Amino acid sequence: MKKMKKDIVLAAVAAACAISLAACGGSTQETTQAETTTAAAAQESKEEAGAGEDTSAEAAEAETESEAAEGAGGQLIMATNAEFPPYEYHDSSVTGPDGSDIVGIDAEIAGAIAENMGRELVIEDIAFDSIIPELQSGKADIGAAGMTVTEDRLMNVDFSDTYATAVQAIIVTGDSEIAGPDDLADKLIGVQQGTTGDIYASDDFGDENVERYPKGVDAVQALIQGKVDAVIIDNEPAKVFVGENEGLKLLDTAYAEEEYAIAVKKGNTELLEQVNKAIQELKESGKLDEIVAKYISAE
Ligand code: ARG
Repeated sequence: MKKMKKDIVLAAVAAACAISLAACGGSTQETTQAETTTAAAAQESKEEAGAGEDTSAEAAEAETESEAAEGAGGQLIMATNAEFPPYEYHDSSVTGPDGSDIVGIDAEIAGAIAENMGRELVIEDIAFDSIIPELQSGKADIGAAGMTVTEDRLMNVDFSDTYATAVQAIIVTGDSEIAGPDDLADKLIGVQQGTTGDIYASDDFGDENVERYPKGVDAVQALIQGKVDAVIIDNEPAKVFVGENEGLKLLDTAYAEEEYAIAVKKGNTELLEQVNKAIQELKESGKLDEIVAKYISAE
C-alpha cells in the first residue's frame, strides 16, 4: 500500500540523516537548485497573497534584525508554529528561552543550540507552511517545529540529525465507528495545513476528503463540532488535545511513522554543522532526555 511505502521511504531518509549529515544535506543541492528557487518564489508569492497572515509585528522586526546578525554574539532566529504542544506552544504563565511565552521541547532545544553557539535565541511564530519559505529567504536561521524529514522538503531545505520519532495519530469522537486507517476512506479528515498529516491524507484519501485548518487545535474543534469525522495529527499533540477535550479518543493504530529534525537554508553547511554538534552534545549529556521528560511524562 502507498502508506507502507511512505513509511519505508521516511525511515530510509531518517536513517541516511542519522548516519551522515552529508546524506541529509548537500548531495542533492546542485541538481535541485533551480527547483528550489522556483519553489521559493512560488511559496513567497503565495505568502504575499495572504497565506502567511499570522506573521506578527514582532516577527517582522526579528526578520530585519536577522540579516544584520550573523555569527557568534548575534541572534539565532528560529521559525516555528507555536500551536503544537508539547513541542512549541504559548504559555503565559512562564517565560520561554527567548524571553517570550513560547515554550516546549523545540523551544528548549533551540535555546540550548543558541547557547552552544553563543547566540541569542529569537523565536518567530508563523504559519507552519511559511517556515520553509522563511528559511529560504534568509529571514529565519533555523526551523524547529516538530518538523518531519520528508523527501519533498529535502529538496527545499537541509535537515539536521533527527532528534525525535513521531507517528501520525488518528483522533475520533468517543462514539465513532472509525477504528483504523482503513475506515477513513470517504470520511472527512481534518488536518493542520501543510503538515505531513495533510500531505499523507490528501495522497491516500483524496484532496476532497481533507479539510485543512491553520492550527491543529482548529481541526480538533471541527471534530468536536461534527464538521469532520477524524483528525490526523502527530501523536504527542494528539495526546494533549485529547486530554484537554472531553469525548475524543485516540486510535491505537498509527497512520505513519516519521522523524523530526531542524531545518536550515539549503547549502548552509556551516550552520547545519553547528546545529548537529549542539544536538549531539544534547544527546550525549542527557540534556535532550531531560527536556523531553519535562514535557512528556513516561507511560
Ligand atoms: N510533523 C508534522 C510535519 O512536519 C507536523 C508538524 C507541525 N508543527 C507545528 N509546529 N505546527 O508536517
